[in-house]
Amino acid sequence: MIVFTNKSEIKDHISKEKAKGITFGFVPTMGALHNGHMSLVKRALQENNVCVVSVFVNPTQFDNLDDLEKYPRTLEEDIKLLETISKDILVYAPTVEDIYEGNTKAGHFSFDGLEFEMEGKFRKGHFDGVGTIVKRLFEIVTPENAYFGEKDFQQLAIVKKLAQKHGIPVNVKGCEIYRESSGLAYSSRNARLKPDYKAAAPFIFQTLLAAKDKFGTKSANEVTKWVEKQFAKNEFLELEYFIIADITTLKTVKRKSKSKTYRAFVAAYADDIRLIDNIALN
Ligand code: PAJ
Repeated sequence: MIVFTNKSEIKDHISKEKAKGITFGFVPTMGALHNGHMSLVKRALQENNVCVVSVFVNPTQFDNLDDLEKYPRTLEEDIKLLETISKDILVYAPTVEDIYEGNTKAGHFSFDGLEFEMEGKFRKGHFDGVGTIVKRLFEIVTPENAYFGEKDFQQLAIVKKLAQKHGIPVNVKGCEIYRESSGLAYSSRNARLKPDYKAAAPFIFQTLLAAKDKFGTKSANEVTKWVEKQFAKNEFLELEYFIIADITTLKTVKRKSKSKTYRAFVAAYADDIRLIDNIALN
């Protein structure tokens, strides 16, 4: 498996392979790879000749310096894990300098309002950072297909919008949330959970399942109030938001409509670790 750290080298390699008719699927990550990431890589390998996995902790998408510093960095293990899956994987693990060339700043993006909801409200500048890095990576890797998890549903919607608005010729594909047997969604941040918090964290998905059930008969507002009450009783988890939103606009639903599709989204702190999850409601 080839590991590139330099954008010109990987660009060169990919353009030569493309000339031979090889197709590329792309899975951008921040590393500390887990089964959630692997499910994306496996799908990319099924649908393309080669899968490019980028491993880069992107500084411009962090609104919290402590979170950026504590973000796990495990490149050697990541490479070993990828090697167990297939030889048709290229890793691109650039330095901050290779990507940002001395100007570690995000550009400004408009995603037609998607960026102002949920994560956009609670993590200022986050989606400008995501837009900046994903656009650069798309330009370097030039994949036919790119795979993003529904775990970050808003990010997936924003990346689709990015490709569409900037005319980037890539199919952005959404992949289902991959969960531990407890129901907890795999996340690189789970590795930092202390045992009590790890044991408490599956409550997030259990509550989402119960919310889905209640949404069949109750209003969005009633379900939201109920969820907030459940979290208030939980001593290990602090709810940041629970929102039921329309999947196309990501705006909070005021009145349910039969013709629309909704999802419930949650962000909660387990100690100082921020966890997010979501579920399809109808
Ligand atoms: P990261 O958090 O490493 O996630 C990389 C990709 O894996 C994202 O598309 C994310 O949605 C997906 N993913 C993470 N956990 C998952 C799970 N349990 N099930 C399914 N998919 C999962 O998201 C980022 O990195 C960054 O913002 C990035 C897009 C790389 C830009 O820096």
